[in-house]
Amino acid sequence: MISTTTGAEEGTKKRENAVSKDAQRWDAIFDIGTKYRDLNEVFILQLIEEFKSLTGIKLAHLVDLGCGTGDTLARFCKQDIGVTGIDFSAVALKKANLALSSCDSDVFLIEADLENLDKVKIKTTVGTLWLCKFVLAFIKDKAKFLKNVRDKMNKGDAFLLMTPVLHDVINYQKEDKPSIAIRVEEADALLLKIFGNRHIFSNEYQGERGHTVSYLVKK
Ligand SMILES: C[S@@+](CC[C@H](N)C(=O)[O-])C[C@H]1O[C@@H](n2cnc3c(N)ncnc32)[C@H](O)[C@@H]1O
Repeated sequence: MISTTTGAEEGTKKRENAVSKDAQRWDAIFDIGTKYRDLNEVFILQLIEEFKSLTGIKLAHLVDLGCGTGDTLARFCKQDIGVTGIDFSAVALKKANLALSSCDSDVFLIEADLENLDKVKIKTTVGTLWLCKFVLAFIKDKAKFLKNVRDKMNKGDAFLLMTPVLHDVINYQKEDKPSIAIRVEEADALLLKIFGNRHIFSNEYQGERGHTVSYLVKK
């Protein structure tokens, strides 16, 4: 069953002013069929196991913050895990709806602005993994966003932050797409400040560029 809402239950007005402009920019990106690097089955199975050993609870639900076209949601659905996708791009959510049409688990898609996550009503269950994949660089107030994520989490939930990171010593070029990444020192400091922990689940560094870090922390 797929349930789609606007995230407006607690007062977020849909598609207004600056938010609308940013969301429309993403609509245009997804309109031309843009996709981001997908997670593979091994990564997902490892993550499910690591969630259990970190929290002592079986992973039951995934909340994907900035879910885009729903590829990650679909992967977790295949493992019989319920999913919630949140994004402000209506085009992305339409594609996610299609990608999840044959999913047997519960699916909730919410059109909302992550800058105001505190105003978004999210139904979760015990054993929820909160995921933020390739999104943090686009959030203006990163500390507020991460605090809101932490406050929404139930005790025992876990948060996986996947983000490309930049290193001060490297001179990045336009083709490195530095706008999708944040400085590694900033990511570390934010995680430490807000979650008191910066445990690294996966550290993928194939060369001097294209470094992605995944932090897995528990509430
Ligand atoms: C680089 S894409 C990554 C999409 C997906 N996580 C993936 O890995 O395929 C960034 C996503 O964040 C969403 N996004 C960026 N800023 C947002 C905001 N303020 N509120 C909601 N969604 C946002 C975009 O619409 C887009 O879907």
